[in-house]
This record gives sequence, structure tokens and C-alpha cells, in this order.
Amino acid sequence: TAIPTTVTITGAGGQIGYAAMFRIASGAMLGADRPVRLRLLEIPQGMRGAEGAALELADCAFPLLAGVELSDDPAVAFDGANVALLVGSRPRTAGMERGELLAANGAIFGPQGRAIGEHAAADVRVAVVGNPANTNALIAQQHAPDVPAERFTALTRLDHNRAVGLLAAEAGARVEEIAGVAIWGNHSATQYPDVSHATIAGRAALEVVDPAWARGAFVERVAQRGAEIIEVRGGSSVASAANAAIEHVRDWVRGDGAVTSAALVSRGEYGVPEGLVSSFPVRSVNGAWEVVEGLGIDTFSRGRIDASVAELAAEREAVRELGLLG
Ligand code: NAI
Repeated sequence: TAIPTTVTITGAGGQIGYAAMFRIASGAMLGADRPVRLRLLEIPQGMRGAEGAALELADCAFPLLAGVELSDDPAVAFDGANVALLVGSRPRTAGMERGELLAANGAIFGPQGRAIGEHAAADVRVAVVGNPANTNALIAQQHAPDVPAERFTALTRLDHNRAVGLLAAEAGARVEEIAGVAIWGNHSATQYPDVSHATIAGRAALEVVDPAWARGAFVERVAQRGAEIIEVRGGSSVASAANAAIEHVRDWVRGDGAVTSAALVSRGEYGVPEGLVSSFPVRSVNGAWEVVEGLGIDTFSRGRIDASVAELAAEREAVRELGLLG
């Protein structure tokens, strides 16, 4: 039988961890031919939740699930990890200053990055979900200098999927007819959902939907979708976020070369300053993300990309000043 893939989930006692782990254990992320060993990392306050989820995992009797281990020690939880989903974070709470938020997350993602560098498997792939995801990924990556930088990513797949869903609805098309949508920049309200290279059933999206909608209400709706979910549901996105994390890793490991979106460490593509963790149109080739190169960027897109990237650069500057980049 195949050797199990070790998947570490941080914040496993929380909502997204709970929504993700059953699907991962059932094979939705790595495939029905790959057994999975789950390592659940929590802080003491979240441990009972993770323990309860582990009991339920046992009650599912998933044939692919080779084991579940819990720990509150990153060195233990990331030991031999092939995939690391960094979900647990310190999200912004009312009245919290930006500096406090970044400092609290630096205290989480610095040590976790270091533990990944020291203990994870040589092929480790890291996907940061916990917000502020891009800058948390940057902090972790900077603490793991021996891990190739391209193995650290942040999730913008939820934004991507939201964009695809809303575009399909507007066009009266099926989601599988949509191709070439891209999210640029930060996983925040400044993100730029871009349909200028998208197609709907093979036709240019901007010939199918109203371009004024695509560059106005659509951009706003995608960027504000998280807030919309909170308002309607009374809680943040959970199942859709877990689904996006699973699809991000699935496509990274087993991808078919289709264009999607992920936040990667920039090598300077499209003028995004090197080293920032920014979302790009990407495709997965032989188990590695590649930025889709050579797309024409018009003035509108340029302005939106630059604005979101400027926010990322400011976040990097702030964490650098706080001494959080190691
Ligand atoms: P939650 O509050 O239900 O769960 C978070 C869990 O993380 C808690 O159980 C907490 O004890 C744990 N945790 C905190 N610090 C930890 C540490 N140092 N090590 C291990 N575990 C730790 O939150 P939920 O709903 O699961 O969301 C998690 C994060 O995902 C939030 O930051 C949220 O903003 C973010 N998010 C990101 C999305 C994206 O598209 N990138 C979409 C939706 C949410």
C-alpha cells in the first residue's frame, strides 16, 4: 500500500479545520489512491475541539485515514509534514490596531515557519488560510530560509471561486464554461478579480457580460463577499473556505494545468515587487505553481493591481519594522 501523506492542519479545533478535515480524510484533497495521516495543531484553548473532531474522524472509519495525532507543539505537528494548512491565526477583532494584529500573527507564523523549516518533509507544501493570509505566509516563509520560497503560498482560491460563481450567474452560464479568471494582489478588500482574459464557453467574457459591471459591481461584490457572508449568515465563510483550501492543494499536487489563482512569493512578475506574497493567475505544472506569464494588462487592471500590491508592500514594511521577518 502507498505511504501515507502527512497533512498538518493548524487551528484544527476551529471552524475551517472542522469543515476541511473530513473531506481531506475522505480523499477529496489528495485523491482516492493516497492515504493520509493527519496532524492537528492547536493551542491549549482549542485542543478539546480538535480532540472532539478526532473522535468523529474515527467514527467515520475512513479507509484512507492512516492516523490522527494532536499536538500543541509546532515541532511535533510539522514533523514530516508533506502538506501544511495554516488555518489558525489571530483575526482582527473590533478595536484592534493594525500593529497589534500583525504582531499577534507574527508570534504565530514566525515560530510555525521555523518549525516547518526544521521538521517538515523535504517536499513540504504550505498553504496559509489564516488572515492576514498573504503577510502571514510571508512571515512563515522568511523563517524557513532552507525551504524553497515557492513552497509557501496563501489562499486566494476562495476569492477565485467566488468570482467564477458570480460571473457564471451573471452570464447564465455553467461554472465549467468559465476559464481564465484571475485574482490579483492581497486577500483583502483591495484584491482585484480580473475577467479581462476570461472566457465564457470560449467567448471573451467582456463580450458576454457588461464590461461596466465586470469592472464595477462585480469587483466590489467579490471583494466584499466575505462581509456579505458574515452579514447574511451571521458568521464568516467556513465550508467555502475549507473547500477552497482543499482545491488549492489538490490542484497544486495533482493539477491539470488549468488557470486558477493563488498567492505566491513574487519573482517580480507583472511588476509585483520581488518577495511579496501576491495573488496571480497561476497554473500547476508537474506539482509546482507557475505564474501565467505574458497577459496584457490594460490601464484599469494596472491601477487595481498596483493598489492591492501597494497594500501588500505596506504590510511587509510594517512587519519588518516590528521585527517579525526574522
Ligand atoms: P476559528 O476561530 O473557528 O478557528 C481558529 C482556530 O485556530 C481556533 O481553534 C484557535 O484555537 C486556533 N489557533 C489560534 N492560534 C493558533 C496557533 N498559534 N496554533 C494553532 N492553532 C491556533 O476560525 P476559522 O473560522 O476556522 O478561521 C480561521 C482563519 O481563516 C481566520 O483567520 C479567518 O480570517 C481565515 N479565513 C481565511 C479565508 C481565506 O480565504 N484566506 C476565508 C475565511 C477565513
